[in-house]
Amino acid sequence: MADRIYLDHASTTPPDPRVVDAMLTYLRERWYNPSSIYVEAQQARAAINDARAVVASAIGALPEEIIFTSGGSESDSLAIRGVLEASKARGRHFITCAVEHHAVLDTAEQLGRDGAAEVTIVGVGMDGRVDPAVVAAAVRDDTVLVSIMHANNEVGAINDIAEIAKRVHARNAHAMVHTDAVQSASHMGVNVHALGVDLLTLTGHKFYGPRGAGVLYARSGTPLAPQIIGGGQEKDRRAGTENTAALVGLAEAIRIAAAQREADIIHERTLQQRLIEELPKRIPLAGITGPRNLDHRLPGSASFVIAFVEGESILLALDLAGVAASSGSACTTGSVEPSHVLVAMGVPPALARGSLRFTFGRQNTEADVDRLLEVLPPIVQRMRALSPMPVTEPPADYLPWLAS
Ligand SMILES: Cc1ncc(COP(=O)(O)O)c(C=O)c1O
Repeated sequence: MADRIYLDHASTTPPDPRVVDAMLTYLRERWYNPSSIYVEAQQARAAINDARAVVASAIGALPEEIIFTSGGSESDSLAIRGVLEASKARGRHFITCAVEHHAVLDTAEQLGRDGAAEVTIVGVGMDGRVDPAVVAAAVRDDTVLVSIMHANNEVGAINDIAEIAKRVHARNAHAMVHTDAVQSASHMGVNVHALGVDLLTLTGHKFYGPRGAGVLYARSGTPLAPQIIGGGQEKDRRAGTENTAALVGLAEAIRIAAAQREADIIHERTLQQRLIEELPKRIPLAGITGPRNLDHRLPGSASFVIAFVEGESILLALDLAGVAASSGSACTTGSVEPSHVLVAMGVPPALARGSLRFTFGRQNTEADVDRLLEVLPPIVQRMRALSPMPVTEPPADYLPWLAS
C-alpha cells in the first residue's frame, strides 16, 4: 500500500505516532477504572484530569467546561438535545443551517417530528457560507438554541461564527449558540471566547487523534440536560466509564495540532492552491465548489463538480489508480442522493452527482497533487466516453458552477 495517496483527511486523519505512543501506556498498563479508589485507578483519573486541562487551555475554556464524549456526532446531539430539553420552560425554537453535518440535521429533524423543537433551517450562499444577518433575522423571543457549523466538511466553507454569535446574543440574550468545529479545529484552531459561543463540538480523529473520542465545550451556566445517565461521570453530564487511552490521545493530538498549526496551514494551502488552480484547467466542464476566496476556505480543502460524470464512478477509478478520495462527506459516499450541501448551495442535482472532494494533510506532498492531476483527466475522459448520456453543451444552470 506504500504507493497509495490519501486525499481524504476531512473524513479522518491518520493517528500521529506520538498520539499512539501516549495511548499505549493506558491500554497496556494504566487500564484501571478511573472511578475506583486504589492508586492505579487514581493514576488513570489524573491522566484524564491532565487531558481535560490540555483541551480546555487549547480552546480557551475552563477544565470544568469540557465534557468528554464519544465523538462529534455525540457532542452535536448532546448540545442540541441537552439545551432544548433543559430550556423547555423558555421555548423550543431551534435554528440551524442547511449544510450542517447529518449529526445536526437529522437530530433537528427528529426533534421537530417529535414536537420537541420548532426548527428553522436557514439557507446558504453559492459559496456554502451562512449570512450572519439571515441567522439574526430568524431569532425570536422563544429561540433557545442556534447551531451553525464553523467550517463545512464537504466544501471547506468557513462561517463567521463570532459575528453570528454576537448578532444572535444581541437579539436574544438567552439564546445559546453552538458551533460544530469538527472540521475547523485542526486547521484554524478555535477559541471559545473569540468565537463567542456557548457550546462547541470537537472530535479527535479529524486532528490526528483517535476515533471515538470527542469534546463538547459547554460554557459554565449553559442549560444542558444529560442524554446518557447512570454512572455520574463528567460531572453528571455524560455517564459511562471513561476511555482513558482515547482521552489521553485526544489531548496529545490537540497539543501537537496547536504546536504545528502554522506549518500545517502553509503546507496544506500550498497543495490546495495548486489543485484548485490546475484541475479546472485540465478537465473541461469542471468547476470549484465552495469559496474561491481562500480566506473563507479551510486550508487543505479542494472540492469540485465535473459535468457529465458520476462522482462515485470516478472515485472507484481513482481508487484503482491508487488515490483515496471522496465525493463529499464520508457518510453520503455510497448513497445515490446528490449531496445536501451542494443542493443547498444551488448546484443543479444532476451536476452535484459529479462532485469530488480532496482534502490534504500533513503527509501529502506536491508529488501527490501532480499524480492526481496526471491520473484524473484521462479517467474523466474515459468515463465520459463510456457514458450512455451524450456529453453535450452544458445546460444554462450548470454554467455558474463551471470554470469559463
Ligand atoms: C462537520 C462534522 N460534524 C460532525 C462529524 C461527526 O464526527 P464523528 O465522526 O466524530 O462522530 C463529522 C465527521 O465527519 C463532521 O465532518
